[in-house]
Amino acid sequence: MGWSQERLEQVAQTRLNGAKLIVVANREPYIHRYKNGQIEWIRPAGGLTTALDPVMRACGGTWVAHGSGDADKATADANSRLRVPPDDPSYTLRRVWLTPEQEEGYYYGFANSTLWPLCHQVYCKPTFDPSHWEVYKQVNQLFAQAVLEEAEGGPALIFVQDYHFALLPRMLKQVRPDLVIAQFWHIPWPSSEIFRVCPWASELLEGMLGNDLMSFHIQNHCNNFLETVDRTLECRINRENFSVERNSQVTRVRPHPISVDPNLAKEYLGDDWEARAQELRKQWNLENRPLIVGVDRVDYTKGIPERLNAVERFLENHPEWIGQFHFLQLGAPSRTNLPAYRDLTLEVQNIANRVNERFGTEDWKPIIFLNEHHGPEDIFLLYRMSAGCVVSSLHDGMNLVAKEFVTAREDEQGVLVLSEFTGAARELTEANLVNPFDIEQMASGLHACLTMPPEEQRRRMRKMRTQVNDNNIFRWAGKLLSEVGKMVEPSPEDDSDIVLEEEPEEEIKAMLEQHNSIYLFRSGRF
Ligand code: F6P
Repeated sequence: MGWSQERLEQVAQTRLNGAKLIVVANREPYIHRYKNGQIEWIRPAGGLTTALDPVMRACGGTWVAHGSGDADKATADANSRLRVPPDDPSYTLRRVWLTPEQEEGYYYGFANSTLWPLCHQVYCKPTFDPSHWEVYKQVNQLFAQAVLEEAEGGPALIFVQDYHFALLPRMLKQVRPDLVIAQFWHIPWPSSEIFRVCPWASELLEGMLGNDLMSFHIQNHCNNFLETVDRTLECRINRENFSVERNSQVTRVRPHPISVDPNLAKEYLGDDWEARAQELRKQWNLENRPLIVGVDRVDYTKGIPERLNAVERFLENHPEWIGQFHFLQLGAPSRTNLPAYRDLTLEVQNIANRVNERFGTEDWKPIIFLNEHHGPEDIFLLYRMSAGCVVSSLHDGMNLVAKEFVTAREDEQGVLVLSEFTGAARELTEANLVNPFDIEQMASGLHACLTMPPEEQRRRMRKMRTQVNDNNIFRWAGKLLSEVGKMVEPSPEDDSDIVLEEEPEEEIKAMLEQHNSIYLFRSGRF
């Protein structure tokens, strides 16, 4: 049986067994802000909220997040709660208020200047500032307080998201050992050599081992995590079932590749997408030229300069394409308080200008760079009307743009150029896989977007669509809930048809073989 919203609803009911579901993520799914004296709401850019919102719509419960919009207070009640989605409420958003100093030290500081570069191998040196660390601890405590309030009075499953909250699981377990806690780490976990340079590595790991389940996108990140724990803390690692035991707390470590809701493409495209596409072509003077798109937050992990430089190389290699296509880059502004992000925006702008000056004409520009926020209606329209989409992350936990692009292509056309350093590349093997650091390969990928025969596009796209349809966001959440929900309370329906399709033992065996071979090799037992 395939995974759908309905099936996830069923799993949630059975597995949660009456327990509350509380998701904790720094980013809220809906931000309220003032515009021209009116309050409007937007969906923020970024994979986490895109992926989890359909899950919460299916399961209900509470999402605890930083209230970051300037109209957020005005739209929440006295307990900082409101029902969302604003146009069709089905779950509760509990906002946590941070002072500018807390946002600076915890979000811009420790989360995004220490853990973000530490976990991504992109050669941006992490900062290790003790004052950021102090605020990170303080804000984790603040969120712990909010979660404990939301979980009062009964069993609850707490689903913690990401690197903003490494300390939260342990803080919660200390006060409420009965809570079942799972954490999903949306970014890569690096090798132990890299992670262990962090002066607070032990405390971070100690915090994460407060979880009953610690999950990453791919097996490699699980292996790296276990390895890091093994080398940093005193604990028992059970290689039979891939878990860590420390101070009588057992944490299972498992890969769960995140995904998207394939039905959203239809919803966002609507019936009038062709008319809107025509308008857009007129508005940007695109005429009927083929379009290649990039859709990202402007972040140094995404490889945006690499892909724009590749546009230049492509034009050098294939001058016959001068004047014949456009590369359109949507770049949502992100973390702009940080110099590395501001510098990157300038760099991208400069490359776009340089390439446009070199190859552009009065009425044609090869690169269009739109450095602004766009909603999913516009983004899906671009996916649908383009010849290809380029995802050139230098390192990425998953990358959901790649999967979204595939869901938008009901016509089974379109070429996906995908960095081999994304989690998505493990699943979307029919994409045109590239090393983003290899400019010639990137230029060939762009060429493929414009020249791949329709039959070949169809063959590849069909396989990728099957992959994303089968392994959708409901399966991701369903499998996670199935795994962790069992710990909430033994449920009488445990043996119903809702159990996982694949025998987990098989997966564990495979992990084990891979992991044990790493160990045996290192200890020189071969
Ligand atoms: O994927 C990692 C992540 O931090 C997610 O939490 C989020 O979806 C995305 O990057 C966007 O980041 P931010 O919430 O900092 O804008």
